[in-house]
Amino acid sequence: MTNTGHPFEIRESPVAGKGAFATRPIRKGERIIEYTGERITHAEADARYDDDSMEEHHTFLFTVSSRTVIDATREGNDARFINHSCDPNCESEIERGRVFIFALRDIRPGEELAYDYAYERSGDETEKEERQYRCLCGTRACRGSIMEPRETYEARQRAQARKKAAARRQRERAKAQYGSQSRGKRPAR
Ligand SMILES: C[S@@+](CC[C@H](N)C(=O)[O-])C[C@H]1O[C@@H](n2cnc3c(N)ncnc32)[C@H](O)[C@@H]1O
Ligand SMILES: [Zn+2]
Repeated sequence: MTNTGHPFEIRESPVAGKGAFATRPIRKGERIIEYTGERITHAEADARYDDDSMEEHHTFLFTVSSRTVIDATREGNDARFINHSCDPNCESEIERGRVFIFALRDIRPGEELAYDYAYERSGDETEKEERQYRCLCGTRACRGSIMEPRETYEARQRAQARKKAAARRQRERAKAQYGSQSRGKRPAR
């Protein structure tokens, strides 16, 4: 058991490995801890860790952006022990490239802290990956995966498709306008 100056302690979790448990009441909105570690690129993270070789997926990586990942195995603090829940009492927020864990609601002493990892899906997850990323949070709201809900992935795909279609329409309008002007006509008003 460790005491870190933060409002939680680290001990065995019924969910997975070690977890973080509140040692005092934590108020909704309270900033609990920063997720620290070495800041590396995705390429470096891929070189360091071979997810395919793991039967059970385990990581201390936190994706900050398309460029940066935090590797909490190096220079990391106890934030790396906060597990995932599909019905979380905490959330992670990225503020100017730094990651903080906040309380989503009031938390009682002894409660395990957890936030929704919602790992981004690529859409072509294999059965093996679905198994590797299965969720053991045990809440009634459990979606069975520590990856983001499929609906979130599908909504993102639809939003991207809409954005692409809008950009294409705009390009076509600009082309039509330029085409008519270049033939000496004015665009319709
Ligand atoms: C940042 S660590 C959390 C601390 C971890 N329990 C430990 O002892 O190292 C993230 C890893 O914990 C495990 N984990 C966390 N939450 C989980 C959950 N709800 N279901 C299954 N595994 C979980 C997964 O192996 C995940 O890759
Ligand atoms: Zn779950």
